[in-house]
Amino acid sequence: MNRLLPLAGAIFLAVIAIYQYSRPAPRAAGPQTAAKGVAAASRGQQVFDKWCAACHGRGPGHPGTQSLELRYKGDPPGALEDRTDLAPETTAAFVRHGFALMPPFRKTEISDADLAELSAYLAKKR
Ligand code: HEC
Repeated sequence: MNRLLPLAGAIFLAVIAIYQYSRPAPRAAGPQTAAKGVAAASRGQQVFDKWCAACHGRGPGHPGTQSLELRYKGDPPGALEDRTDLAPETTAAFVRHGFALMPPFRKTEISDADLAELSAYLAKKR
């Protein structure tokens, strides 16, 4: 485990750097997706893709996913989108307060309405 720490640290920093770099630019959603004939993502999924996916996306290279994978050993799964046990209140608490490497998100970043959509999306209610 100790041998992996520098590597894990480097991955964390890289992801956070990418995350910070991409933060101010709001991603255009909708028209392009629709033009390609792909079903438009729900609002909750759009919020997830913009603010959470860098750390909580599926697969390797996502520090939140990997940390949760280690913590829970796969049950529940590390990727938040594969969870079925996330109560909306739990998601909302983590989003507003942050945890460890995860920053808190302000209402100017994720509004209460968007947080409700995001929490419902992760709770599989939307
Ligand atoms: C900079 C990376 C980062 C971002 C961005 C981020 N998180 Fe996290 N998140 C983490 C880390 C790291 C943890 C802690 C993992 C652990 O406890 O091992 C975590 C933990 C969580 C947990 C707790 C899960 C559990 O069962 O303990 C939830 C829920 C969560 N994040 C939701 C979100 C949501 C929703 C977003 C988007 C608004 C988000 N996170 C954005 C890194 C991030």
